[in-house]
Amino acid sequence: MCGIIGVVGTPDAPDALDTLLEGLARLEYRGYDSAGVALVRPGETWRARTASGTESVRALVEVCAQAPPGFASGIGHTRWATHGAPEAENAHPHLDCTGRIAIIHNGIIENHAELRAGLVERGHTLSSRTDSEVLAHLIEEARRAGADLVEAMRQSLGRVRGAFAVAVVDATEPDVIVAARRVSPLIVGTAPGRTYLASDVPAILDRASAFYAVDDDQVVRLGPAGFSAVDLEGAPVRLRQLAITWDLETAEKGGFEDFMTKEIEEQPAALANTLLDRRRGDGTITFDELRVADDELLEVRRVVIVATGTSHHAALVAKYALERWARLTTEVDIASEYRYRDPVVEVGTLVIGVSQSGETIDTIQAVREARRRGARVVAVTNVVDSSLAREADAVLYTRAGLEVSVASTKSFVAQVAALEMLALRLAQLRGTLLAVDVEAHVRGLGAVGTLVAAALTRRDVVTDVAKQLVGARDFFYLGRHVGLPTAMEGALKLKELTYLHAEGYPGGELKHGPLALIEPGVVVVAVATDPVMYDKMLSNLAEVKARGATLVVVATDDDEAIDAVADYVLRVPATEPLFSPMVDVVPLQLFAYAMARGLGRNVDRPRNLAKTVTVE
Ligand code: G6P
Repeated sequence: MCGIIGVVGTPDAPDALDTLLEGLARLEYRGYDSAGVALVRPGETWRARTASGTESVRALVEVCAQAPPGFASGIGHTRWATHGAPEAENAHPHLDCTGRIAIIHNGIIENHAELRAGLVERGHTLSSRTDSEVLAHLIEEARRAGADLVEAMRQSLGRVRGAFAVAVVDATEPDVIVAARRVSPLIVGTAPGRTYLASDVPAILDRASAFYAVDDDQVVRLGPAGFSAVDLEGAPVRLRQLAITWDLETAEKGGFEDFMTKEIEEQPAALANTLLDRRRGDGTITFDELRVADDELLEVRRVVIVATGTSHHAALVAKYALERWARLTTEVDIASEYRYRDPVVEVGTLVIGVSQSGETIDTIQAVREARRRGARVVAVTNVVDSSLAREADAVLYTRAGLEVSVASTKSFVAQVAALEMLALRLAQLRGTLLAVDVEAHVRGLGAVGTLVAAALTRRDVVTDVAKQLVGARDFFYLGRHVGLPTAMEGALKLKELTYLHAEGYPGGELKHGPLALIEPGVVVVAVATDPVMYDKMLSNLAEVKARGATLVVVATDDDEAIDAVADYVLRVPATEPLFSPMVDVVPLQLFAYAMARGLGRNVDRPRNLAKTVTVE
């Protein structure tokens, strides 16, 4: 989510600032809301931070014109806010109480609240609302107790839970950067006389000549002549060398051909980030950023979700979870429809606006209308402090990271996960599920990322099927239960990317009209992973098969019967039905992508569409 860069050089070539600012500018494609640098030399740490949205790095360059010359080492950061609004005081680097130690962090410190309370009790002054700042003060304490910078980092990380790529500098050890990683990416680059670190290759691509990956729970010490690494217990480890031959454009796409592929591949990480720190040690589900009191949540009698496009499909999945787990009547509406239909807002109506960008005007207007009528409004969005977030009473952030490709992918899985976590929270409060069942579902949700990763390994099979079908012109996507929103999302991906006709339809409804359209040449893509709905779905498939359609079926690994029915089978690992949309959507995304590539379409920028639609 955030971008990180660092450089250590020798005092005879004090060009750290140029390296950092150039590197931060190169991270622009990841999106950011604020930026900052910290430069170190003996006895002095100089810091600058700006929060001007996408102009932050440009503003930082201006501020840094005032920097004293002569720094050979420093760290820089572009922030994509998760904890604390995108304001200058929440921008990184963060300093300790002495102002000598500076840290940058990408990830989420899950136990930041308790660490912060302890630090404050011990006399520290924290000046931001971020989870990250605690790291600067923990390192300060360890340093004060005599630890060197590596040891201080190891000790501090021993106290934090969560995900991190973190780097620290200290003016009392100015020719060293210490960095570490768990989950969030971190690489090291070397060149004669300088050593670099970065969250992403583009930041240091044209400066470093060799690249190394920092793996989970490794701590690296960078000096001008190279680096050494240890694990969290202090035992020496070797970093993996990376063979990177990318140009800048490929590097920005993480080495993939396009942003869509990068974002599809990022889905397990998007899920992990979205679910991080949502559960307390005592088992209660908690959302740091969702500032609605429990008794207010207990007053909820009815839920209305408004959204558009892919976010609408995630909302449709959430309806099943809210009804099944929390026993709450839930209505899902297309945002542009809700506003104009004189909606009923009774006491106890909770309206949830779901939007990746948080800027879709239809969704913003819908929640505005709901509020005007007295509803409590929660926003589920990927962008901190977006218009939707500001419009709502409370916010729940998906933490999928910036999505560049117009067709939404990782946002869908992150939205479903966030909404299902909210459904479990409501179930927990309302007592509609047993504690053991809540616990089992939370664990199940946590395991979905692994299943998504498994589904992603089957890309080649999906691509082969797409190759066979590249001449087809008409597609029906069938689903039942949560398979229906999955099918609708699959159809949306296909039409957005290929410009072919594709329609998502309830399996049972097909015979009430669209069956008239089924003939040889029509492709029917069915989601048939739900054991409860399986027989019914098979009957629906028999109906279309008898009329000559070509059948592509998303089926679970253990489904042997499907081979006799389907022309092509896209296999996925089985999971609890309410989690299945996050897994089953993967082959549908890959299928739409492969079809689009087969037809020579621009997958990242389909014609006529915009990533964010800010007009009605
Ligand atoms: C546009 C995009 C879609 C997206 C929809 C909702 O139509 O092309 O990919 O699903 O907006 O966007 P939101 O940011 O509100 O989730």
